[in-house]
Amino acid sequence: MLSRSRLHVVAARRTPPARWRLSEGSVSGSVGTSPIRQSVPVIVGLYGVAMLVASVLSLKGGVGKTTVTLGLVSAAVHAGLETLLVDLDPQMNATATVEVDESGPSIADVLANPRRSIVNSSLRLSPWSERLRVIPGSEAAESLNYPDPTAKHLARLTTALAKVEPAPDLILIDCPPSLGQLTRSGLVAADRAILVTEPSLYAVTGVQRALEAVQQERMSHHHLQPLGVVVNRVRPRMTEHEYRLAELRDLFGPLVLSPTLPDRAAIQQAQGAAVPIHDWPTAGAREIAVMFDALLDRLMRSAKHRTKV
Ligand SMILES: Nc1ncnc2c1ncn2[C@@H]1O[C@H](COP(=O)(O)OP(=O)(O)OP(=O)(O)O)[C@@H](O)[C@H]1O
Ligand SMILES: [Mg+2]
Repeated sequence: MLSRSRLHVVAARRTPPARWRLSEGSVSGSVGTSPIRQSVPVIVGLYGVAMLVASVLSLKGGVGKTTVTLGLVSAAVHAGLETLLVDLDPQMNATATVEVDESGPSIADVLANPRRSIVNSSLRLSPWSERLRVIPGSEAAESLNYPDPTAKHLARLTTALAKVEPAPDLILIDCPPSLGQLTRSGLVAADRAILVTEPSLYAVTGVQRALEAVQQERMSHHHLQPLGVVVNRVRPRMTEHEYRLAELRDLFGPLVLSPTLPDRAAIQQAQGAAVPIHDWPTAGAREIAVMFDALLDRLMRSAKHRTKV
């Protein structure tokens, strides 16, 4: 399914930012010829190249999956990473926010037939950044959201992502709020799963179910690991939120990622204006942008734990 020799050639064409490239075990490999790069160990993940794939999911709607995906996209392009956003959600909120043309081949075409020509013709460049390409979502993807998909169906996104040319440094996948074929394809295709929750009454059970879904997929796709849980829309002085956050930390320990994300109007304002949070000119946006930088750093550093498959 994956042509590793070809993918290694693709990886050799580019060099991601030094911040992650030069640290031992960073996401990129020793693909260049300079002495520094030769001293960096080759990290080979699911795709056989220096490319990290992360899926953002929750089984509950409206908790901030798209917000977290787009915040990480914004942080990634600002850090100089070649980034691909994949919108698996038939609601297409991420596609609309990064303002790509919705006509033409979409994720529905890619999943129906992950041929190289279809995959690469589905890629759109976003006005957000010259470093951001997008496989846009489609309402038609809903018809592919079978509750009980076969292994062959689940592997199609993996097959497709291996054919993206040139391979990006980072792929971020925005999943729909259900556990059908679409989200499960997103997990099968990912090195990392990022769970999102709000600090509400049902947060613990929601996170537990999402983690179980990740563990279930891990049984046949060992490369997949949960990065952790992003707790979103936290209001620090709200007793209920403090209680739920403590409950999450008690149960899930280090899987609860730092920082948690506060509830900020800037997030809705930037999304409404279809602008990356890093470019929204308010103090609230800058505060959130720094938090997404920290979450991105955590994600990229986790790549050093990737195992060869
Ligand atoms: N930290 C936050 N502060 C303020 N508003 C937020 C925050 N996080 C998300 N929102 C807002 O909440 C709404 C839902 O967020 P989002 O679309 O990211 O959720 P979702 O989990 O992707 O939803 P769906 O399940 O429908 O895909 C959006 O209007 C978003 O702007
Ligand atoms: Mg969403």
